[in-house]
Amino acid sequence: MPDPTITDSSVDAARDDALAAIAASTTLTELRAARTAHAGEASALAQFNASLKTVAPDQRAAAGKLVGQARARVAEALSSREAELAVAEETARLASEAVDVTAVATRWRSGARHPLSLLMEQMADIFIGMGWEVAEGPELENEWFNFDALNMDEDHPARGTQDTFFIDPIESHLLLRTQTSPVQVRSLLDRPLPVYVVSPGKVFRKDELDATHTPVFHQLEGIAIDKGLTMAHLRGTLEHLARAMFGDGAEIRLRPNYFPFTEPSAEMDVWQPNAKGGARWVEWGGCGMVNPNVLRAAGIDPEVYQGFAFGMGIERTLQFRNEMNDMRDMVEGDVRFSQQFGMVV
Ligand code: DAH
Repeated sequence: MPDPTITDSSVDAARDDALAAIAASTTLTELRAARTAHAGEASALAQFNASLKTVAPDQRAAAGKLVGQARARVAEALSSREAELAVAEETARLASEAVDVTAVATRWRSGARHPLSLLMEQMADIFIGMGWEVAEGPELENEWFNFDALNMDEDHPARGTQDTFFIDPIESHLLLRTQTSPVQVRSLLDRPLPVYVVSPGKVFRKDELDATHTPVFHQLEGIAIDKGLTMAHLRGTLEHLARAMFGDGAEIRLRPNYFPFTEPSAEMDVWQPNAKGGARWVEWGGCGMVNPNVLRAAGIDPEVYQGFAFGMGIERTLQFRNEMNDMRDMVEGDVRFSQQFGMVV
């Protein structure tokens, strides 16, 4: 309890205590506590002020001046310290909230389409440019669409040449399609004639993954059925595709072959005029005039409508178009592979 008697020394001591506490406050919260302790109702200076009325009248003016000056000093110190601390706290807050606009931002790579998807799309677009439609068929396919309707009946030798993933139970007659050719029949059943359809998509075969095989790969199938279509239309269509993809100097060459769903059938080679190692012929796909049995399976009279079909591998196309030696690069999902083809979203 401070000395309640008003003397020079007791008032100076109370004032100096107050000034020291104010100077020692480093936050506005501490300053608020110092104000309560040294200028509040219970403070020594407030009590001196209250006890002025008990001072002898002849000494009251001097005592009042002493206490009043001390209180004024303290009040002034409080307000100037408050201003200082407010500025300091504001400066600290701004510093802590500062944003470094020159900092290097974290960059998120955007994803991009796989080169195989881009190539399939590019090929399909060439057909859209000729007025064809794009159709998709299921990857989990009926055995009938994949084989029977394509003129490959149960003991057809070609049926054994494709190693097929059959789905359990075997009586479900479901399989992972081994080719996009079943979309030929689906398109014929789905659409009114004439039909001009390309169908890009995934196919599956029991192959080991190595430099030239993958058990999941992609094909682009095409079928055109109309009145009066001939092998010349097939050739012209494939030549247009080849030139759109490999340049004006590209050519098509057809070599006799066998496919159960086409008759006659041909192996198609493409002359790649701008190949890196020099112009060359490359085996590209199969094609032919749609076998009358396929048309009959879709309920079409082969005496009235005829047409052609073709199919080629997309991985293979990417491989010889871009001089890639190892097919595994296409399936491993390493972004450095895709980046070489441009990051197209
Ligand atoms: N489906 C055949 C295969 O996977 C490719 C093919 C050959 C498709 C001839 C056709 C065609 O449409 O006419 O080997």
